[in-house]
Amino acid sequence: MKKQRIAVAYSGGLDTSVIVKWLQEKYNADIITVTGNLGQKKELIGVDRKAYKTGAKRAYIVDLQKEFVYDYIFPALKAGALYEHTYPMATSLGRPLLAKSLAEVAIRERCTAVAHGCTGKGNDQVRFEASIAALAPELKVLAPLREWEFKSREEEIAYCEKHGIPVTATKENPYSIDENIWGTSIECGVLEDPMIEPPADAYQRTVAPKDAPDKPTYVTIEFKEGVPVGLNGAKMDGIALIHALNDIAGRNGVGRLDLVENRLVGIKSREIYEAPAALTLHFAHRELERLTLDKEVSHYKAKVAHDYADLIYNGLWFTPLRHSLDAFINETQKTVNGIVKVKLYKGNLDIAGRTSPNSLYDTKLATYTAEDSYDHKASEGFIKIFSLPMKTYYRVNKNGLKKKKRLVKK
Ligand code: ARG
Repeated sequence: MKKQRIAVAYSGGLDTSVIVKWLQEKYNADIITVTGNLGQKKELIGVDRKAYKTGAKRAYIVDLQKEFVYDYIFPALKAGALYEHTYPMATSLGRPLLAKSLAEVAIRERCTAVAHGCTGKGNDQVRFEASIAALAPELKVLAPLREWEFKSREEEIAYCEKHGIPVTATKENPYSIDENIWGTSIECGVLEDPMIEPPADAYQRTVAPKDAPDKPTYVTIEFKEGVPVGLNGAKMDGIALIHALNDIAGRNGVGRLDLVENRLVGIKSREIYEAPAALTLHFAHRELERLTLDKEVSHYKAKVAHDYADLIYNGLWFTPLRHSLDAFINETQKTVNGIVKVKLYKGNLDIAGRTSPNSLYDTKLATYTAEDSYDHKASEGFIKIFSLPMKTYYRVNKNGLKKKKRLVKK
């Protein structure tokens, strides 16, 4: 019988290392590992070597940065998608792309199954498996963490030692960390108590606001059709721009979030996030939209943003609804052009200026000076018609205020 081939989403960490060996033994399979580069700081050099040492037949490292930034991150930015009004979803956006990349390799390598290292109580398993179901339903999905015998890290480490799997012997990190160019997600350890303030060592890529520079840093961000294209006057591609902004904002203590959130799988969890560039870009983009979007579009888009965020969080990236919402959002972004000046100071973001060729702000209409061109007289008729329904309702049902009640008591 031909040997089975399984493609494994591989990070090189403890769980996915154990998965490689465990699947190989359990299914007598050839293992192909796939590691995606989503712009994480963690070095990917050597990950393939480690995979081979662990027993992989082939090890892929796929550079997904450009696709991640332009086809996942920027659509979410244009949508203004923040889960529960807060979280810019670095992890949630990365999963469908990692799943897609895994499926592509699996098909090329004639695998019959793929495997991931997500746990049975998280959102990531849903994002992964729903994406595979949409893109490559013929692939079987294996989730070893939901079924294997190991009950602790120690048991996994013992398994590695028994099988000669290289385990990076660093001091045990008390946190579970997921990281990419759009942000870092940190949970577990003492963070599981929502009453405990995160210790300093929980933060991976931002300076504590109190240690940030005493002088504010100003940045200008240029947008074209809702997409950031320039930083501080220099044109930049998306990847470079996000990396640069992560550094600048992170140095100023900007980007930290502490969130109790509602998982798709029914539980509340507490997570710390660091997303310096993501929060700065969402802030600047929103400010530019205030200037350039028509009132009705702006108000309607806020509802779409809410739904779009839920859809990303819940693993529904590859759906007709997401494509349809993209069409709406892209239409709204045609006039979101211009430059936003942001002040970064000890963890805070402030608007310092905005300008746009598509600005709907008309000084002649807004001014209280002699330049005023607004038709004040037209207001009278407008208010008469505008208030007609309430006038009618109160006359019929409430009688307004009784005449004598209007008199001040002596
Ligand atoms: N709660 C976030 C989400 O569902 C992040 C999950 C992964 N977090 C982690 N620390 N490994 O998108």
